Amino acid sequence: MSSDALAHLCESLDGPMAIVTAFDGRERSGCLVGFHTQCSIAPSRWIVCISKKNHTYGIAQGAEWLALHFLRSDQLGLAQLFGAVTDDVVPELKFQRCEWRAAGGGTPILAGCDYIFGRVLERIDAGDHVAHLIDICETGNPHPAAPQLGFQDVQGMRPGHAP
Ligand SMILES: Cc1cc2nc3c(=O)[nH]c(=O)nc-3n(C[C@H](O)[C@H](O)[C@H](O)COP(=O)(O)O)c2cc1C
Repeated sequence: MSSDALAHLCESLDGPMAIVTAFDGRERSGCLVGFHTQCSIAPSRWIVCISKKNHTYGIAQGAEWLALHFLRSDQLGLAQLFGAVTDDVVPELKFQRCEWRAAGGGTPILAGCDYIFGRVLERIDAGDHVAHLIDICETGNPHPAAPQLGFQDVQGMRPGHAP
């Protein structure tokens, strides 16, 4: 399959958009992600892939825990903040512009979001992204009623970092 054909195929899909957040003991960071999936039921595990170019990647490298927030259709503003802005220039800028609290270990949990939180068990070099295997230890579900925010809702968004 040509890369054009693959891009065309991917553009036609509508995966759920999420925000991954991390804390390495010094700094907090986070970015919008489309590359994530549940990968085990018992034990409960999830995989999230972070681009090696993103500021979040450097922080996630040193993080023991990660949180993943599943966005709903009324949370486009949060998607914009974490997907179209990079913390390369002003560290923790995104966290000055949204509400959050610190979970165990200091990882930011974004206010009003459905989320999972867990320990990073493994990191797998997947190419230009690194897959982080999360062992889920906490789930929050404050916002279940609204439809999900999917890739088709944010397809035109320009990433803060070129992929
Ligand atoms: C629709 C969309 C999907 C994205 N999916 C991912 C992804 O799966 N993994 C990733 O690392 N970055 C992804 N990004 C890019 C980052 O969210 C974006 O470059 C962000 O600004 C990086 O911020 P940072 O440099 O502060 O980490 C996506 C961006 C958009 C707009």
